[in-house]
Amino acid sequence: MSLTFAVLASGRGSNLEALVEGVHRRPDVAAELVGVVSDRPGAQALAIARAAGVSAACIDRKRFEDRDAFEAVLAATLEGLGADLLVLAGFMRVLSAAFVRRFAPAVINIHPSLLPDFPGLDTHARVLARGDAESGASVHQVTPEVDGGPVLAQVVVPVHAGDDPERLAARVLAAEHRLYPEVVRWIAAGRLVLGDDGPRLDGRTLPLRGRRFRVSDDALEPLCAS
Ligand code: GRF
Repeated sequence: MSLTFAVLASGRGSNLEALVEGVHRRPDVAAELVGVVSDRPGAQALAIARAAGVSAACIDRKRFEDRDAFEAVLAATLEGLGADLLVLAGFMRVLSAAFVRRFAPAVINIHPSLLPDFPGLDTHARVLARGDAESGASVHQVTPEVDGGPVLAQVVVPVHAGDDPERLAARVLAAEHRLYPEVVRWIAAGRLVLGDDGPRLDGRTLPLRGRRFRVSDDALEPLCAS
């Protein structure tokens, strides 16, 4: 049976594009993107979805009085899509605990840092300010704590001398485009199970920072430390 997934995105949609190419369009992957939902009318992600022939819906947060009203329509829309998995890809709204619990445990997000370091915004500037030699991205299960759910996988990239936040962000983003489709492919293949009692990959509990990779020759290469 094929996995169905929906993507929530607020903006540019480059991770969505990677998921279209690396999961939805791949004949060897049993997974189908059944819809994309955005909270912003002008989101490029909506255009990417339509170009891929995928249902695209905008639920404009600004048209709702409060988060509860917005989330009620968002939840109904997502339930209408009937997706097995919700994939947050640059969705810039903090979801309420009630919303997360409604769709848990099958909700994942990608965050541009090596969690649990640097949850929240402006990650790249904070990595540079601390003088870290490495940064990266994490795919994690979504729980009510923002960027706090169990980490499933990480991709590590070097910080170079002379990096500014934009250059580091571009390096991390390119690595995200490798990592996110890989994790969804694991779920589609039944290798990664998002159970109520925590995620398991290949039958094993994941380490704190999930399965770790670096990008080598444009492919993911496992890091021994994982
Ligand atoms: C990515 O950096 C992702 O890690 C973060 O939001 C950004 C989304 O970029 N959660 P895009 O819209 O996928 O291009």
